[in-house]
Amino acid sequence: MAPFYGYIMSLKGKKIIVAVTGSIAAYKTPHFVRLLVKAGAEVQVLVTAAATQFVSGLSLATVSGRAVLADVADGSTWNNHVALGLWADAMVIAPCSANTLGKLAHGLCDNIVCAVYLSARCPVWVAPAMDEDMWKHASTRANVARIQEYGNRLIPTEHGELASGLVGEGRMAEPETMAALLEAHFAQAGELRGINAVVTAGPTYERIDPVRFIGNFSTGKMGVALAEALAARGAAVTLVAGPGVQATTAAGIATVRTESAQDMYHAVMAVEKDASVLILAAAVADYRPDEVAMHKIKKHEGEMSLTLTRTTDILGSLGKIKRPGQTLVGFALETNNELENAGKKLTGKHADMIVLNSLQDAGAGFGHDTNKVTLLRHNAAPVALPLQSKKEVATAIVNHIIMMRNEQADN
Ligand code: CTP
Repeated sequence: MAPFYGYIMSLKGKKIIVAVTGSIAAYKTPHFVRLLVKAGAEVQVLVTAAATQFVSGLSLATVSGRAVLADVADGSTWNNHVALGLWADAMVIAPCSANTLGKLAHGLCDNIVCAVYLSARCPVWVAPAMDEDMWKHASTRANVARIQEYGNRLIPTEHGELASGLVGEGRMAEPETMAALLEAHFAQAGELRGINAVVTAGPTYERIDPVRFIGNFSTGKMGVALAEALAARGAAVTLVAGPGVQATTAAGIATVRTESAQDMYHAVMAVEKDASVLILAAAVADYRPDEVAMHKIKKHEGEMSLTLTRTTDILGSLGKIKRPGQTLVGFALETNNELENAGKKLTGKHADMIVLNSLQDAGAGFGHDTNKVTLLRHNAAPVALPLQSKKEVATAIVNHIIMMRNEQADN
């Protein structure tokens, strides 16, 4: 599961109803509310009578910054549940007791939580919390299945110590886990629709003669994952792929195949003008043979040397012509003085962000399906992401790009 970032702003301005019912797990709900509010959401808390035996309305009102509603007749009118059902972008019932689960499954409506639930037009998440035997009871199983059939989303319970003193299944998910689900839900909203993006991926091959080249071990997996993550958010992506990069069938991605650094440079320059987001994830050769032999070079006695010449720095070239509204992201693969070297690339190449890959981390770098990166930006502390799948890393990078672009738009 994706971690909760808290700073990617997909929750900013979102209207969320948090409904609390009678379970000891309610002690975690103020923290959950606090995470949502800190991430920019507006939170309206609802409580059942039983909930207030476990958590105080005052705590919930303080962390949410709004009066807690406990009754359908709260507020100025009796029909606040209808207005709330229309107001919310999301509703989360956390914790959801066995009793409330049963009511939701059968359409009962004897309190404000059930009334708002029945009126809600937004997605509803249900986070059950109960002792293991209750959780495993056939009637609970049937109720869980039924509320999911109705289109509600279940936040899976966790295994661990229960309030009864037993250890087992039935604990409410942690607040960070629940917040991450909402964050990811709102992040998938197509924020990059109408935007063109360019991603470079994979190695380059610099020919020595018709049968040999200078290359590297890059597979292009990270670049492909980035192209897919951008396309998933609605961007029209041009993937400029080096040799051997796996094809992607994801919608919204046009792939241009290239071989050498020079090919890649021309392919990028052909599309950069229309692009608002450019991510240079390819492992581009810094040098190429000065001359490419027309015929296969034959071996002979003694040593042999090749004269190499610098290739064009694609990222550096884009940095020089960067225009307002373009977000330029580069990668740095470092083995020592990582932060310092990556920081030099950030300023030297006029990038907006450098994704630092350290080969010192197990499971990171070429060929792996996982990666561990640190994101460097101007005037911001480096953000070290955990070891995650390349897909998750790509989503996190794209989240940061969206956040940066939102910040720029706000300024
Ligand atoms: N890059 C590029 N064109 C090149 C070389 C690199 O676009 N000809 C991009 C890469 O895609 C990556 C970043 O620049 O985004 C990496 O910077 P670079 O200075 O090439 O890193 P290293 O090759 O690791 O360089 P150094 O030898 O300076 O560490």
